[in-house]
Amino acid sequence: MKLLFILGTRPDAIKLAPVIQEARKHKKIKIYICLTGQHRHMLDQVVNFFGIRPDFDLNLMEPNQNLFDITSKAILKLGDIIKKVNPDWVIVQGDTTTTFVGALCAFYNKTKIAHVEAGLRTYNKFSPFPEEINRTLTTQLADIHFAPTKKAEKSLLKENIEKKKIFITGNTGIDALFYTLDKIKSIPRNKFAGSLKNIDFSKKILLVTGHRRESFGKPFQEICLGLKQIAREFPNLEIVYPVHLNPNVRKTVFQILSKVNNMHLIEPLNYPSFVWLMKNSYLILTDSGGVQEEAPSIKKPVIVMRNVSERMEGIEEGIAKLIGTKKSDIVNSVSGLLKDSKQYSKMITAKNPYGNGKASPIIIRELLNA
Ligand code: UD1
Ligand code: UDP
Repeated sequence: MKLLFILGTRPDAIKLAPVIQEARKHKKIKIYICLTGQHRHMLDQVVNFFGIRPDFDLNLMEPNQNLFDITSKAILKLGDIIKKVNPDWVIVQGDTTTTFVGALCAFYNKTKIAHVEAGLRTYNKFSPFPEEINRTLTTQLADIHFAPTKKAEKSLLKENIEKKKIFITGNTGIDALFYTLDKIKSIPRNKFAGSLKNIDFSKKILLVTGHRRESFGKPFQEICLGLKQIAREFPNLEIVYPVHLNPNVRKTVFQILSKVNNMHLIEPLNYPSFVWLMKNSYLILTDSGGVQEEAPSIKKPVIVMRNVSERMEGIEEGIAKLIGTKKSDIVNSVSGLLKDSKQYSKMITAKNPYGNGKASPIIIRELLNA
């Protein structure tokens, strides 16, 4: 059986890596890996850690690329690769442009499509943008759907996807997380990214990530102004923000936060260093999808800076809070949790709803059975 994995961004790679590792255990499976290179630096960081050796690398990234550029270039190049490999299945993950275009090109070639992390929805076309539509269209194109949770399965059933084509697996991101936690457990602190050296880990750490397109402009300014106020109100707090490489993010972040004392604006971390940092943080403030899933597994409360989330499981469990992007809401929810240890302890007793780290064997088993 020939499987062609198509990946291009940091989260695609983190979440497909354990599926690729699992596929490698089966002699019957011939694996092909195509990187679109939608991200360059942030993808390579992950690919190197998991030892993924690509057969094809389209190297599509350009500085400050827009959605028209990336989509059109990816369609032209991926079409050729799928024709050339002619796999039994194309495997895509999640909701990025690489995901959607990979599925579309497989469909044009009449190749079967497996969608990992299927069924996440906000039902808001523009939030997250363009991911909500990327994943909805990928569902329409896919032949088998690996839903991380029961809620995701329910969304797929509502869209008339046949139950027999849906498998609830847990999120493969949790497989990647457990694999990484195990790998790093005996590694000393000084072996992680150099940019962590200036941080005082005897203090409480607030870890921040933010990159969503629907927040560019005013919402991102509010986020940064909120962070500035938190830094001022809590001078003993260390705030660590690995800043996403999207220039729209960096401009605002560096303009507003570069001179703030207890604020560490650092480059994106390689995955093991980021996992280590999550483990050693007190609280996480993010708009990331993957981080929302990982934090509950390591018992860290997450404050989600978005108006809607497709990952409501963590919010319903009580380990995550959805607070929007208004400065006052950000300041209030962070300071609330820093001051109120009861509220904090209550949040961390919640259980992780995103899987037990064994999603990938289910995916490969079902592909072999399909
Ligand atoms: C993309 C995905 C988003 C995902 C996110 C994960 C789309 C439309 N968006 O958003 O769903 O949540 O990745 O991080 O698929 N850049 C670099 N080096 C890198 C990566 C990015 O310089 O390694 C810069 C480039 O200027 C690039 C820009 O970031 O043009 C934007 O990258 P792009 O892939 O278009 O969107 P993201 O905001 O990263
Ligand atoms: N991550 C990382 N280094 C960082 C920030 C995040 O390795 O500096 C990891 C994080 O653990 C998670 C993934 O990247 O697995 C999330 O990526 P991102 O937030 O860019 O995308 P999203 O999940 O929102 O699509």
